[in-house]
Amino acid sequence: MSARPMIIDTDAGVDDALAILMALADPSVEVVGITTLNGNVSLPNVERNVGTILNAFGAGHIPIYRGAARPLLVDAPDAADIHGADGLGDAGLRAPRDLESTHAALGIIELAKRYPGCTLVTLGPLTNLAIALSLEPNLAQYIGKTIIMGGAPKATGNITATAEFNIYVDPEATALVLSRGNLQPTMVTWENTLDHPILWDRWEALLDAGDMGKRFVRPMCTNLMNWAKTRNRPGMLMADPKAMAVALDPSCATVAHVYMEVDCGTGIGRGMTAVDPIGFSKKPANTYVATHLDIDKVIALITKATAVACHL
Ligand code: BDR
Ligand code: CA
Repeated sequence: MSARPMIIDTDAGVDDALAILMALADPSVEVVGITTLNGNVSLPNVERNVGTILNAFGAGHIPIYRGAARPLLVDAPDAADIHGADGLGDAGLRAPRDLESTHAALGIIELAKRYPGCTLVTLGPLTNLAIALSLEPNLAQYIGKTIIMGGAPKATGNITATAEFNIYVDPEATALVLSRGNLQPTMVTWENTLDHPILWDRWEALLDAGDMGKRFVRPMCTNLMNWAKTRNRPGMLMADPKAMAVALDPSCATVAHVYMEVDCGTGIGRGMTAVDPIGFSKKPANTYVATHLDIDKVIALITKATAVACHL
């Protein structure tokens, strides 16, 4: 069976890095391009980080595209307090690469047309995807599956009282993706992450699984691990690897097909992702929301990535 083509859109980011490594380590997919955007840290940091991740894996041939430096309408905070000022845990991991000259939004369109039926995984805000959908309204017909890490349908926010970070950074882009794209994405939410922490003993075991775990992922995550332990977290939360696991193996998630709408107001609900499973809105379902994850399968897929050689 030939490998499934995959495009990854990312604001890397510590957990993005681990998710990208999972895709690279899985022979059932071929990563055909990585598109970058502002989010966890600024765009230049994200670009450097993606180069570093690819070089660590020995995948220097995969093209990297420069994307949105700001959200569509309203600037938003970054998450450097979680990911480190450089976005990779301030562990000194640096091996940058040259970028393509094409913009990330055009890169998504070109790659989707070159690899029809491809999987698109978004690990950051939805700015690039919204621009791509505006430029090519038929984009959905070229994409097989879209997996989005984002949202908090129960309004358990991680950046405000009600909103998950990726969606909060660019709610207008999210609204466009949900309303116009007909992508029918699968959303792996912040609540999925909270429901399925990777308990500390299992986290330690996956870091020790091999060279990549020991020399790249552990140093990258040290500050975040300490931060999480001082907050008495039961384990590592790691949102993006869970979305990647669902992209690699859909049986990692149970999903519900629902109508979802994002709040683009300016009050406490900005960025909140409300779902309507009962049908009050009388609008057709536009999203598959993950309701439960198989954490054993997720951990097995992460461990495949931490077991590989690190080329830095
Ligand atoms: C999401 O926001 C970022 O901090 C993470 O990389 C993840 O994509 C979690 O809310
Ligand atoms: Ca991310």
